[in-house]
Amino acid sequence: MRLKDKVALVTGAASGFGEGIAKRFAAEGAALVIADINDQGGRRVEHEIAATGARAHYVHADVAKGGDVQAMIDAALAAFGRIDVLVNNAGWAYSNRSSLEVSEADFDKLFAINVKSLFHATRAAVPAMRRQGGGVMINIASTAAVRPRPNLTWYNATKGAAVTITKSLAVELAPDKIRVNAINPVIGETGLLETFMGAPDTPENRKRFLATIPLGRFSTPRDVASAALFLAADESDFLTGVCLDVDGGRTV
Ligand SMILES: NC(=O)c1ccc[n+]([C@@H]2O[C@H](COP(=O)([O-])OP(=O)(O)OC[C@H]3O[C@@H](n4cnc5c(N)ncnc54)[C@H](O)[C@@H]3O)[C@@H](O)[C@H]2O)c1
Repeated sequence: MRLKDKVALVTGAASGFGEGIAKRFAAEGAALVIADINDQGGRRVEHEIAATGARAHYVHADVAKGGDVQAMIDAALAAFGRIDVLVNNAGWAYSNRSSLEVSEADFDKLFAINVKSLFHATRAAVPAMRRQGGGVMINIASTAAVRPRPNLTWYNATKGAAVTITKSLAVELAPDKIRVNAINPVIGETGLLETFMGAPDTPENRKRFLATIPLGRFSTPRDVASAALFLAADESDFLTGVCLDVDGGRTV
């Protein structure tokens, strides 16, 4: 049990990578707070985790809204008394298209969900982590920050910001024993797959993307959860400011 007696909060945990991370953490002994705007999916994950005997609590929270994020942290503290691990995973993307065709409304939505969420989460969670003597923050960025694909420019920029925020906070919060790391998944088999491809999920379209990944497959929730587990556990307690590429060699 690599997370025995720890409390973890995962945003965007109603599906995809977040669901995989939440379930893996619970299997390793953590109590889980699942946050999302998808109440049906969030409650399903809550019930599935609880059915294994682990503790789970779902909270509705829009990570783009400061009030929701503060309430999410307060709910976690009320349910379990502390927050050892915060995974900022919730994210959104517009479908692959020319950077000139993205609306201003979509640009603002993108930065609110993918970047401003980190501002809100930091301000809400760090005081609690300081009080308890430390903690771990894991931001789900993307290989888009390191090896951007065309037609996703504004999305790529949000992940570049997430990487810089991770490194900067790592240095700033190290005296508080708060470790801040990121994971950069390559394109994965989640609800966002078709959005990134900008085309229907057909074998031909998959082929084009798979050709750019040396290990020859998409990332999965299991891959991302394995990396998150390592970064959350005490075995990585000398790692901070790391942005771990989980990418089958895409960024080499
Ligand atoms: N799938 C990929 O190819 C890929 C690659 C690299 C990085 N990522 C990143 O991984 C993270 C998880 O995405 P995923 O691929 O699992 O997609 P997903 O769509 O399956 O999951 C995203 C989750 O975030 C939730 N969400 C969206 N907006 C929210 C908001 N405002 N507040 C709270 N929750 C919100 C959604 O309801 C959903 O449950 C995102 O940050 C994404 O940018 C995905």
